[in-house]
Order: sequence, then structure tokens, then C-alpha cells
Amino acid sequence: SHGRPAQGRLAGRHILVTAGPTHEPIDPVRYIANRSSGKQGFAIAGALAALGARVTLVAGPVALATPPGVTRVDVETAREMAAAAAAALPADAAVMVAAVADWRTEATGQKIKKDGKGPPMLTLTENPDILATIAGDARRPPLVIGFAAETGDMIEHAIAKRARKGADWIVANDVSGDVMGGDDNSVHIVTAQGVEHWDRMPKDQVAARLAERIADAL
Ligand code: CTP
Ligand code: CA
Repeated sequence: SHGRPAQGRLAGRHILVTAGPTHEPIDPVRYIANRSSGKQGFAIAGALAALGARVTLVAGPVALATPPGVTRVDVETAREMAAAAAAALPADAAVMVAAVADWRTEATGQKIKKDGKGPPMLTLTENPDILATIAGDARRPPLVIGFAAETGDMIEHAIAKRARKGADWIVANDVSGDVMGGDDNSVHIVTAQGVEHWDRMPKDQVAARLAERIADAL
């Protein structure tokens, strides 16, 4: 609450969290999006705030209540999310949980109609990589954490992603089961020191444990 100094292990810290999907408009009624409920990111924002951190949560379109003590900035597209994330710096840590749409189209102001001449051709443009941008920023937070939703060779992909994006940790998320939209998560923490395997547990518990891990590191 306002005016009172925060208590807890993360008191005095500012942490940026991105969560949810992004929506990339095709026309006024259609969009491209990733599958994401935002639950894990919102839980992490709430867990960090519960430890006393000042949390800026940049959220794509989701149907979730803002966790107590969290400052929320709503965005729709990847480019809006990138701008809001950059505007939130400086921060002591950034936790990029959002499922950012990798591509966008040039949106038209008019609804695309079926005109009998076959489907429209959509030209895709790659979106900015928000995590890589924050990790390379002059005001880079001392701890930058990415997520990687993977199927197949999950750990290999996560190790490669950590290096490619300049993140300190990658939380590898096995999405081959019913994780998407569900209440449980199965994650592995990939750091410079190696890989920690966490048992499958509720997303709230993953969030609480990750928040403690972040407090240990800061
Ligand atoms: N991410 C981001 N901006 C993007 C794409 C991804 O910030 N435009 C972040 C996500 O929030 C996540 C991490 O990067 O923390 C990994 O996202 P992921 O989609 O797994 O990585 P990509 O590099 O897009 O690789 P892929 O081809 O596997 O989708
Ligand atoms: Ca992606």
C-alpha cells in the first residue's frame, strides 16, 4: 500500500515482468496470437510483490485480475510490449514470461472480405525480441530471466536460447502435456552453472520458489 515502506526480502527492488500473449492485428476483427493464459507470469508478479518488490507487470490481453501490490501496464502488440518494457527500466531484474507473437502482418483498417478469389496472402514481419533487447540494453537489469516453452529436446533448446538472447537464466517449460492454460507447471532452471530440475507443481508454487530464487540472487 502507498506511503508505507515495503517489507520483505525484495523490499526496495524494482522488477519488470512480462506476461500473457501478444495480439498482432490482421484487420479490425482478426489477429495472430500465441496460446498463453498469462497465469504463470501473473503468479510470478504476485510472488515478487509478496516479497516486497515493486513490480511492473507488462501484460498482453488476458482475463486475469492484477495481483495485489503490482503495477500493471496493459498492451496488445509485441511492439507495444517492447516499448512498455523499455520504459519500465531501470530494474533490478526482468522476468520475461510473455508468449510474444514472433510475427506480425501489416494490418488493414478495413475488414478483409472473402471475395471469391481465394484466401488473402499475409506477409509476415518478425517482431522485435523483447528479451534480447532488454538483455543488450545499456540499462540491462543485473538479472535477466527468460522463459522457453518447448517440446522435444527442451533442455538443449533452452541452453541455446540462453546464449542467443544473453539471458542469465532460462526457465524451460515443458509444454508437451497440459501445461498451457492449466494450473500446474513443469520447469527446469538453466543457468551458467547448469540445469536444475524442479518437480511438477502448481504454477503458484513455481512462482513462489522462483521469487525466492531471485531474492537469493539479488
Ligand atoms: N521473447 C521476447 N520477444 C520475442 C520473442 C520471445 O521477449 N519477440 C521472450 C519470451 O518472453 C521468452 C523467451 O523470449 O522469455 C523465449 O521465447 P521463445 O518464443 O521460446 O523464443 P524464440 O526466440 O521466439 O524462439 P522460438 O523459435 O522457439 O519461438
Ligand atoms: Ca517464439
